[in-house]
Amino acid sequence: MPATPVTVAPPADLASRLMQIGQGHVFAAYERLNQEERASLIAQVRGIDLDAVPELVESYVKRKPGFALPPDVRPAPYYPNDSKSPVRAWDRGAADAKGRELINAGRVACFTVAGGQGTRLGYDGPKGCYPAGAVTRKPLFQMFAEQILAWSKRSGRIVPWYIMTSPLNHDATIAFMNEHGYFGLSREAVMCFPQGVLPSFDMATGRMLIASPSEIATNPDGHGGSITALHKSGAIADMKRRGITTLSYFQVDNATVRVIDPVFIGLHASAPDSSAEMSSKMIPKAYAEEKLGLFCSCSGRTEVIEYSDLPMELQREREPDGSLRFLAGSIAVHVMGVEFVERLATDAKFSLPFHRAEKKVACVDPATGARVEPTMANCVKLERFVFDALPMCRASIVYETDRVEEFAPIKNASGTDSPDSCTKLQTERAARWLKSVGVDVARNEAGEPECVLEIDPATALEPADLKNAKLPTKIERGAKLVI
Ligand code: UD1
Repeated sequence: MPATPVTVAPPADLASRLMQIGQGHVFAAYERLNQEERASLIAQVRGIDLDAVPELVESYVKRKPGFALPPDVRPAPYYPNDSKSPVRAWDRGAADAKGRELINAGRVACFTVAGGQGTRLGYDGPKGCYPAGAVTRKPLFQMFAEQILAWSKRSGRIVPWYIMTSPLNHDATIAFMNEHGYFGLSREAVMCFPQGVLPSFDMATGRMLIASPSEIATNPDGHGGSITALHKSGAIADMKRRGITTLSYFQVDNATVRVIDPVFIGLHASAPDSSAEMSSKMIPKAYAEEKLGLFCSCSGRTEVIEYSDLPMELQREREPDGSLRFLAGSIAVHVMGVEFVERLATDAKFSLPFHRAEKKVACVDPATGARVEPTMANCVKLERFVFDALPMCRASIVYETDRVEEFAPIKNASGTDSPDSCTKLQTERAARWLKSVGVDVARNEAGEPECVLEIDPATALEPADLKNAKLPTKIERGAKLVI
């Protein structure tokens, strides 16, 4: 679109459209702005789907949409971690072989969603830059990059890595990757692209919040925005050019995620009840109130229902053996077919539902330009969730994994899902892997390792790799060691 000439008054078409939809305040300070600021505000307004705004305000800001629990909701079936389980036996060896075949044929890429704002952690920067290595304090991005590098070496193939940022952290992410030489990966193998944003709305009035006199406040459109962003950014085209068919999806906050898991990829690609469109990993919830999305089956379709939406009576229901009936908690790890993502992203009718969150967001008063620092939630933020694409699959499988093996997220500054719990989980996992090859690790009376351990992906991607490593016979109390 040709640039709009910057005049003293705002462009008449935009100003009247904004007035019509009750958002006329956006240009309140226009006359006081300099040329550059006016141009940037006009470009931002033109980038917003103004026709969609009234409906968003009516349905999600002025009203809180209720959650309609599907009447036939039941727990989703899953492939148990123990492939010999009498509940559902399956061929782990065949799945592993299929997964490795795809990896070795260069068909698999990694995809990290890293566009979130990370407000809970209180870290000022892209979360991927957060120092997470139990001993080395290496950043999350490095922990993933080193696994990807190891898989590339092992398969003799480039494993491309797609990273979804947001406009709020894109430049900082690129600068960080450049500063660290992409952690040894080839620059051509890493593609960072920003997701879309949506205006943030004033909770009381439904007006778009103003971040500064020349800027509307926005928020990233949720990890569900990744489906469209993968297409719009050219990432899908890049995958097709490289012959990638399968994406290994994970969140930037999970330090122990297996960036590529052959068994999971193999199940996704070849299980009889998989459509190879989108599959998911779960861990058994530790207790009924644990805040994990739950895999459910509704009218035969797999869905994730957020813990806040599934009634607590259902979450507390138990099987006769005492285990939770709704057990399968989402760790937000998926495998996605590239064709599936492309099919959704290019379908004019495709859209994922919005979810509403109330947040405290600093802004300015549009009339006076005075800064407003709210003391309580003042903003409605709308987001889309990627797992809402699951019911769009012809069929979608869920695979159980082990918490200690691959779920050590960093979300909060302390307590659950914190840097501290992440360090403990990295250590526990390393201790288990070491024990499997006969290395003794000192433990206290509660059974916890009395040391801090970190496994370098160059040494081992899975426990069996340790068989070839030079290892101590025993790890003493107080040790701090990178294996
Ligand atoms: C998420 C899942 C939850 C799951 C848990 C496991 C949602 C709504 N819930 O919870 O079901 O059990 O992880 O750890 O996702 N992100 C973007 N762009 C955005 C928003 C988020 O890339 O616009 C990324 C973040 O960078 C992060 C991930 O998505 O990597 C998770 O986002 P977050 O909103 O923190 O979800 P959780 O509440 O942790």
